[in-house]
Amino acid sequence: MSLRVRLTLLYTTLLGGTLLLFGSLVYGLVSLVLLNQVDTLLDQQSSNFIRILRVDSSGQYDTRQLDSFQTTDNNLVFQIWGTNRKLQFARPRSWEAPLDPLAYQVGVAMYNTTFSQGSHMRVISVPLLTQRGGVGMLQVGVALTLFDTTLQALATVLVVLAILSMFIAASIAGLVINRALAPLATATQIATTITKADDLSRRIPVSEAPDTEIGQLIQAFNATLSRLESLFNTQRRFVADVSHELRTPLTVIKGEVSLMRKIGEIDIDSLDSIEMEVDRLTRLVGNLLLLAQAESGRLPLDLKPVELDTVLLEVFHQIRTLAGEKVILQINEIDQVAVVGDRDRLKQVLLNLVSNAVQYTPAGGTVTLSLSKTEERARITVSDTGPGIPPNDLPHIFERFYRGEKSRVRTQGTGFGLGLSIAYWIVRNHNGSIDVTSLEGQGTTFIVLLPFKQPQAQS
Ligand SMILES: Nc1ncnc2c1ncn2[C@@H]1O[C@H](COP(=O)(O)OP(=O)(O)OP(=O)(O)O)[C@@H](O)[C@H]1O
Ligand SMILES: [Mg+2]
Repeated sequence: MSLRVRLTLLYTTLLGGTLLLFGSLVYGLVSLVLLNQVDTLLDQQSSNFIRILRVDSSGQYDTRQLDSFQTTDNNLVFQIWGTNRKLQFARPRSWEAPLDPLAYQVGVAMYNTTFSQGSHMRVISVPLLTQRGGVGMLQVGVALTLFDTTLQALATVLVVLAILSMFIAASIAGLVINRALAPLATATQIATTITKADDLSRRIPVSEAPDTEIGQLIQAFNATLSRLESLFNTQRRFVADVSHELRTPLTVIKGEVSLMRKIGEIDIDSLDSIEMEVDRLTRLVGNLLLLAQAESGRLPLDLKPVELDTVLLEVFHQIRTLAGEKVILQINEIDQVAVVGDRDRLKQVLLNLVSNAVQYTPAGGTVTLSLSKTEERARITVSDTGPGIPPNDLPHIFERFYRGEKSRVRTQGTGFGLGLSIAYWIVRNHNGSIDVTSLEGQGTTFIVLLPFKQPQAQS
């Protein structure tokens, strides 16, 4: 059953239930009031009748007086029953059937609704008492014709009204629900088209009411689509980048091998070149594996206390040897700081940052390292006086395979554009953060913050 039908049914049933409840209440109240009126009449008439009732010493009633009794209502039926359960008086005379045969047994005044001579009656039964005891019973009855027709009319009106309002309610509810759910149908249709066409760039238009639940659902769905689209694009770019990075060394290797085959002997230069390319491929594959593990949070970390100052000094010496005279590499400030982490990975972060700084800073520039403590974290900065990173590149430099425009041209065939992504993910896996500020033409500063301790789950 569709949601539309279900909601309409629910709404109509609820309304029907409420109407039934109120209808029964009105019906009950009206019948109570009407019956009360009838009872008051019967009570009055029976009292008036008893007032003129005379019994002689033999227990006989003076029927002349009874016959002359004036009633306000000609529809009333009077009966007097003797103690022997014999009818002693009836008015009209033809009414011989007992008005309420059950009342004999009770012996106290009571009202009852009965059937007598084919009529629906309300009857009051009053025991007749003299000083000598009970002498019989008076029963006064009145046909409930008016009462019955009134209640029947009321019931008909209530039922018709209930059915009519349920019908109207169902139609209105159907319309309203239809209108409310219409955008959902459109959304479903468009979502199906998107799936069929494999086109993640399409979005479902948010209807005129974006604040409704459906509007919010569509917005959330669109956000999911955007996320999926960007993930797929990243994936696609990644495959393209990897293929590209793999192709270049493979082409070189193939070229060198062909050359050696042609000349028919092993050439040392070719072997060197092949070895270099194989090293490069190995590095690429290693980096990719590391990145894949780090990005999925499954990077195996050998967590131990690490003296960051020692690590920083190691990196300093290592890079200074490599950089030679090109740039001035200096340490500005170095505190004794220990954090819990994976020593090799953290060293790799520093190596990546410092080698970038040395690599991208032109000859004569300065690269400055510092290590200090804040209240809860170690703070490492690597700043250079290089060309800076253009604002266009800045938001992307931590992405896989992203290389700045200039670096691509100048250092073609060297870097992969993976160094900063690896640094970023290693730091993330240590619950730290890495940030960059850069001014074009003035230099770049990377700041790494690392918590002293790792949360319990990590260690
Ligand atoms: N200190 C810096 N100064 C200027 N640009 C930088 C600096 N560090 C990084 N960049 C820019 O960020 C890009 C990404 O750096 P990343 O270290 O990820 O890759 P890479 O150095 O090009 O290659 P890889 O590190 O994989 O050998 C670089 O190509 C460069 O454009
Ligand atoms: Mg690098």
